[in-house]
Amino acid sequence: MKVINLFALLFLLGCVVSCSQPESGITNESIAIIPLPDSYELKPGTFYITGQSSIGIDTSDAEMAALANYFNEKISDATGFSLPVGNSGTIVFQLGDYKELGEEGYRLSVLADKLVLNAYKHHGIFNGIQSVLQLLPAEIKSKEIQAHTTWSINCVEITDTPQFAWRGLMLDVSRHFFTKQEVKRFIDQMAEYKYNVFHWHLTDDQGWRLEVKSLPRLTSVGAWRAARVGNWWEREPQLPTDSLSYGGYYTAEDIREIVEYAQQRYVTIVPEIDIPGHSMAALSAYPEISCTGGPFQVNVGNTFYTKTENSLCAGNERTFEMLDSVFTEVTRLFPSPYIHIGGDECYKGFWEKCPKCKMRMQKEHLKNTEELQSYFVKRVADMIRKKGKQVIGWDEILEGGLAPEAIVMSWRGVKGGIEAAKQGHSVIMTPTDHCYLDFYQGDPIVEPNTYSMLRLQGCYKYQLVPDSVDASLIMGGQGNLWTESVPHYRQVEYMVWPRALAISETLWSDAQSRNWKFFVHRVEQQFRRFDLSGVNYARSIYDPIILPHLDKENRLKIELQTEVEGLNLFYTFDNTIPDVYSNTYTDTLTVPKNASMLRVAAYKGQKQAGRLIDITIEDLKKRAMEPKK
Ligand code: ACM
Ligand code: ZN
Repeated sequence: MKVINLFALLFLLGCVVSCSQPESGITNESIAIIPLPDSYELKPGTFYITGQSSIGIDTSDAEMAALANYFNEKISDATGFSLPVGNSGTIVFQLGDYKELGEEGYRLSVLADKLVLNAYKHHGIFNGIQSVLQLLPAEIKSKEIQAHTTWSINCVEITDTPQFAWRGLMLDVSRHFFTKQEVKRFIDQMAEYKYNVFHWHLTDDQGWRLEVKSLPRLTSVGAWRAARVGNWWEREPQLPTDSLSYGGYYTAEDIREIVEYAQQRYVTIVPEIDIPGHSMAALSAYPEISCTGGPFQVNVGNTFYTKTENSLCAGNERTFEMLDSVFTEVTRLFPSPYIHIGGDECYKGFWEKCPKCKMRMQKEHLKNTEELQSYFVKRVADMIRKKGKQVIGWDEILEGGLAPEAIVMSWRGVKGGIEAAKQGHSVIMTPTDHCYLDFYQGDPIVEPNTYSMLRLQGCYKYQLVPDSVDASLIMGGQGNLWTESVPHYRQVEYMVWPRALAISETLWSDAQSRNWKFFVHRVEQQFRRFDLSGVNYARSIYDPIILPHLDKENRLKIELQTEVEGLNLFYTFDNTIPDVYSNTYTDTLTVPKNASMLRVAAYKGQKQAGRLIDITIEDLKKRAMEPKK
């Protein structure tokens, strides 16, 4: 279905090499679009947006008028223009009978005297606007008027539709709380890269963040904990003398405001209430729905798993009554057709000892606690289905049997997704190896503390549909940001960007168009935009990659790599800081006798590109001995 315009691609790649061809009007910005469109063909000529430009729409169409306003808002800070909107204009947004473009596709014609954006549906116009914004010079992202910038777009023809309908990002607001303004900023940023689902992880052991009017203690108690910093799982447990000063929650009014904000950006918000595990915050508010009776505290980031209960009692009818109240309010607040019920990592040890849970197993003829979990999930799924919504759960909901029509979010690799698809269920792919944005994206020595590794290239390399799976059952995929080690919003941005650029491309663009070098080139254009708009992002792709191993004689050998091309690596073993006059890396290193430290720096020309990596020989040996994944 998707035909890449090969000629245009080769032409563009030529431009990548030669950087800029002003005589043809082609600049790097002309091809900065992420995710890469299906087909695009640059044409001679240039279109200019000036103070005399205007936007032409069907003025009787209120939704289109809102899109024109959105476009004006996006360009007004940097250009100082607020373009008049009328029935005709130099910039035209127009719906037509373009069924082939579907809900979200668009066709963009940039001519010297006119820019015409066509779509079948408004969502397509919205997506097309994102491409137009990315075709404008990077300065369009500035919050201040850029008086010396010419707002030009190289003439181009683009036809573009997404590969997958579900293109999501998940944000965990339980482990750390992010304000209403920050959540809106997250949604605004993701929409610019054509994401259309915001999966909102609203509850967990470390905080319940959604006001439920009929169960006020969920937030008056469950949203607050003692303030702690330091490594997750190493924190001092809450003390009776601690004040419960850390936390927050969203009121029903906040939710309505955020939902409306997301709707204006064609983003569906899928709320997650994570049950039956991950529920210590709920138990701290209502200990009567636990197996032991408590008491409980909202977890501050200290270890507890298997020692302190965090699963709702599956034998207690009150649990289901309360969940019914929760999901009644969730259903009212969120127009999304989907509700996510979690279902992951449910510890069942307390169920095994609980008289009520045992009674339930006996009565329902359940052989083990996996089946009890399945009973729980199916009962809640049924409750939600009766409220008119479709249920999504993490892949553990497969254990003990899937609820009818449940959608599986495959995170422990892709096997859960494959199994669910075999059973005819729809699947959303989000395997840790390609989609977990809480992982390291560079060397752990210079990155904020977390666990496991997922570099930008790992996100970019992902092919969503496993062999032998009915592709029509793969709704799409998403990146997940768990926030145990993400204490504030600047760090959210650091973890999300640029990896979410790569994920957006795997979800939107044709897999055949994947080209790492060209992608990196476009990512670098986005970096300029992030700089100009004050978005925090990781530059870890410029850091050296250090790969130690032991040879057959058990001697430490070290390979150095870079994630992107065009960097030179310089290193020292003598404790001095490397620069371009130091040893240039060409081949595997052997550690000189008595050396205690390796220091490596990457340079682009004469300029240091990434961070200096200092690592002791002791640590290199430890790394070399770690089992390879
Ligand atoms: C998960 O990462 N526990 C879904
Ligand atoms: Zn129980």
